[in-house]
Amino acid sequence: AFTPRVFSGIKPSGGLTLGNYLGAIKRFVDMQGGDFETIYCVVDMHAVTVWQDPADLRVATREVAAGYLAAGVDPEKSVLFNQSRVTGHAELGWLFSCVARVGWMNRMTQFKDKAGKNAEAVSLGLYAYPALMAADILLYHATHVPVGEDQKQHVELTRDIAAKFNHDYKVDFFPQTNPVIEGPAMRVMNLRDGTKKMSKSGESDMERINMLDDADAIAKKFKKARTDPAPLPETVEGLADRPEARNLVNIYAALADITNEAVIEEYAGAGWGRFKPALAELAVENLAPISSEMKRLMDDPAEIDRIMARGAERAREISDPILAKAYDIMGF
Ligand code: ADP
Ligand code: NA
Repeated sequence: AFTPRVFSGIKPSGGLTLGNYLGAIKRFVDMQGGDFETIYCVVDMHAVTVWQDPADLRVATREVAAGYLAAGVDPEKSVLFNQSRVTGHAELGWLFSCVARVGWMNRMTQFKDKAGKNAEAVSLGLYAYPALMAADILLYHATHVPVGEDQKQHVELTRDIAAKFNHDYKVDFFPQTNPVIEGPAMRVMNLRDGTKKMSKSGESDMERINMLDDADAIAKKFKKARTDPAPLPETVEGLADRPEARNLVNIYAALADITNEAVIEEYAGAGWGRFKPALAELAVENLAPISSEMKRLMDDPAEIDRIMARGAERAREISDPILAKAYDIMGF
């Protein structure tokens, strides 16, 4: 039996968005101090699968750390660290590159989306990324991974790698990790196109709410958010073929910690002129205390670095024996 243990991470590939907050960080905070040991990571080695300016990467890495801390990830309750500071991630990532099959990688839809027509010119790391992600998770024998829906296929691949390793070496060493994908925020879409996810690296800043946006920016972005002209429906079923409207209701529900049904009950038949300012106010209420604490932390990088260094030590205490055993099983 494996210790109930959560692992998850966020890439420092740009500023944190409301999607990262609602789909990841807020849920990470909720899972602390409960039935699971919780391990949260700034996955900086994943960020460099696409070009990162070194100075920007340093800032973004501290911003993600500050986002975790400011939103309530407690370094006393959770292990919080930077991936590159625990070399076992890269080591197990290589071992898993030798377990995973090229055909499995070829099926990854996120790679196809990110590489587009240019699949020959992207980095080898972008292609192999799911093997490193499997290592991130299995280096801690994590049993549960809270992620957004975009990561479901990669967690399934992690299960395939664990199963093939266990089968090939006739061991029962790696667990079958469960993705935890739930709640209205599992897919926060961008504000221009209700079918594309809100992302740090989206085309335009108007498409996303950043965790560091001020109240004016948040109000302006929600005001400009694309919707169809119809008012909010009388029941949630009325959101079915209205992706932009559904997205804004999802965001409201996630911010208020209520169901979509409860949102629709309150705003049935309301126009956007009423709903959008209420949504903006709710977002500001949630984000303002977090962003001001993020700014305070980012003004004190030595403090962030100290917390992350301690977390890396604790991460190594858990992962060193697991990595050593994996090497041993393979005959090193
Ligand atoms: P991004 O896509 O913004 O670069 P990451 O790849 O670093 O984010 O993902 C970090 C975590 O945040 C993952 O668990 C991912 O599923 C979640 N996440 C990212 N964007 C969204 C979104 N728009 N909606 C829900 N969850 C998201
Ligand atoms: Na992602």
